Parts: sequence; structure tokens; C-alpha cells
Amino acid sequence: MTDPYDFFAPYYDAINEEPSERIALILSYLEDHHPTARRILELGCGTGAVLAGLGSGYELVGVDRSSGMLEVARRRVPTAMFHQHDIATVQLDETFDVVLCVCDTINHVTTTEGWQQVIERAASHLEPGGLFILDFNTRGRFLDVADSTPWAHEVDDNTLVMWCEFEEPLATWHLRLFERMSDNQFRRHDTRITELSVPTSIVLDMLGNFFELVTTSDTEGGIANDASHRGVIVARRLAR
Ligand SMILES: C[S@@+](CC[C@H](N)C(=O)[O-])C[C@H]1O[C@@H](n2cnc3c(N)ncnc32)[C@H](O)[C@@H]1O
Repeated sequence: MTDPYDFFAPYYDAINEEPSERIALILSYLEDHHPTARRILELGCGTGAVLAGLGSGYELVGVDRSSGMLEVARRRVPTAMFHQHDIATVQLDETFDVVLCVCDTINHVTTTEGWQQVIERAASHLEPGGLFILDFNTRGRFLDVADSTPWAHEVDDNTLVMWCEFEEPLATWHLRLFERMSDNQFRRHDTRITELSVPTSIVLDMLGNFFELVTTSDTEGGIANDASHRGVIVARRLAR
């Protein structure tokens, strides 16, 4: 089956919320907790929007499994290195000062064992003392979006409609594209993206095997919890 993000790639940046707040938050964490960081790896880098926003002072590497998303990322950040891999199994022969896994990328891994593997992969690519910055959609966020009416986005001449269903612990995002063929004719395409909700306490437990907690936050200005919109965790790699 084609990766749903290959389908989504041409529309992703037009409809995804502007990542400037996420980038500003990451830069503030780097300044506060790892000011000498130079080498940054993003697991699930998508179209490279976050890497592009970090500026030219870093060596940047991105991993994603979608060739469509990577194609956009390579055009957008030609100075970065990109690899096509699954983030649960990726093995690069290099280590980094910072590993990012943001914009609910980890939710796309649909088993808790898979989340453990991603966390282990992040740890294995970090220098001791390196930072892992992870965010995730919470149960609260999925309940919220599943209760919302569908979103419609006009992109060029096409219309993309999205809605979400939540059957705990799995959320399914439905993407329906009406591709304009002529003035009054459209071709319909459907795809789905599945995300897993994992309780924040379990995420913190999983991190504890490799990391010490530096800070947690959420998009509401509190600490990450299951009612947050999106939880953010910053953790420091323990010495091996
Ligand atoms: C919501 S997008 C986030 C992209 C980027 N981090 C951002 O902030 O815009 C999720 C990305 O994770 C990638 N992804 C999902 N599951 C993956 C996996 N198991 N291995 C590698 N990439 C994955 C998708 O292809 C997609 O590009």
C-alpha cells in the first residue's frame, strides 16, 4: 500500500499549521538546555519545515519513511541530509547532540512497543547528555478533534476534506481529496492516517529507561498530561 503521506505531501504545507511556534519552542529549549548543540536529527522530518526553521547554525539530518515528504524536504533544506527509514528501526552510523520527534510523529507508530522502539532509537542516536525533544497528541486532543466537524482546505484548484474518528486508543484521520478535472468535474481520492494515543505516564516511564526528564509542557502552558492538546517532553540522555 502506498504511504498515505506520499498522497498528503503536495498538500501538507498548505494545510498544516505554521510551525513557527513549534520552532521557537525548540530553539528556546536548545538555548536553555543544550546551548552548544550543533548536530540535530529529526525522526519523522516530513517536509523539513522544522529543520528549515532552525537556521543555518546546525548540521541537520532528517529521517522519514515517505518518499513524497522527503522529496519536498530535500528541495526545502538542500544543506541537510535526509534518509528514508522507519523511525522504529532506523540505524544511522552517527550520533547527535539533539534528536527531535515532533508534530505528533510518534503517534503514527500504532503500538506501544513501537513507541518504546522509537525512544530506544532516539537514545541510541544521542551522545550522553544529548537532548530528546518529543511531542505527542494526547487522549484529550483526539477526543476534541473527533468531536469537531470536518475541515475543508482549498489547495490550488483542489479541495481536501479531513475528519477524525477516535476509537480508543486508535485515532483515524480521514483525508478525502476532490481533485478538479474541469470546471464541474472532480476525481475523488481517499486515504487514512492512523495514530495511537498513549497515556503520558506510560510515555514518561518508557523514557525513564534511557533519559532523565528535563521539563514537560503542553500547548496550554501547563505540564504534559492526558487532557493537554499536545504534550511536549524534553529529556536528557543518561550516560551509557
Ligand atoms: C505529522 S507529520 C510531521 C512532520 C514534521 N515532523 C513536522 O513537524 O512537520 C508525520 C511524519 O512522520 C512520518 N512517519 C510516520 N510514521 C513513520 C515511521 N514509522 N517511520 C518514519 N516516518 C514516519 C510521516 O511520513 C510524516 O512525514
